[in-house]
Amino acid sequence: MTTTAIYPGTFDPITNGHSDLIVRASKLFDRVIVAVAVNPSKKPLFSLEQRVELAQQSLLGLENVEVCGFEGLLIDVAMEKKANIIIRGLRAVSDFEHEFQLASMNRKMQPEIETLFLTPAEQFTFISSSLIREIATLGGNVSDFVSPAVMSALKARLV
Ligand code: COA
Repeated sequence: MTTTAIYPGTFDPITNGHSDLIVRASKLFDRVIVAVAVNPSKKPLFSLEQRVELAQQSLLGLENVEVCGFEGLLIDVAMEKKANIIIRGLRAVSDFEHEFQLASMNRKMQPEIETLFLTPAEQFTFISSSLIREIATLGGNVSDFVSPAVMSALKARLV
């Protein structure tokens, strides 16, 4: 049986914390799909196309990983891509409640798909995309937390 995992998120922008999880997932599953959500409620800094492109550039060289954008329900894109696993990251206990709700609701809607949680390496447990955006906007250095492609995009977007 082929294992296909889908890793959804807003990825505005993708960080080294996300990439760390994707590398881990790429070793566990035959195929990993990074699914970038339109998510208009978060009013993303980068357009969907830019977020997809930045994820692709940040994940170059991971042969069983692909990136796509999506609108609508995660379980629908998961079924369309024949993914049997949803991956989510747990950085701290505070992530748990929201993740538990998402996982339970997704399982109720589509019992065939299991959600599995991975934890990032310690140095990435305190990163979030909104902190990265805030620090970059205020002129701080985020080079330890994002790929060179994201660094350039942040510089270009925030001048
Ligand atoms: N490293 C760094 N940051 C991480 C991380 C990691 N390993 N894991 C999570 N985060 C951060 C993200 O950067 C994000 O930070 P931000 O809020 O500051 O931007 C935050 O944790 C969580 O956001 P994200 O991972 O983007 O998830 P989300 O909660 O914004 O997205 C979706 C959730 C897209 C999966 C969910 O909204 C969804 O499934 N949408 C589709 C519609 C749907 O199916 N709805 C029904 C759901 S039951």
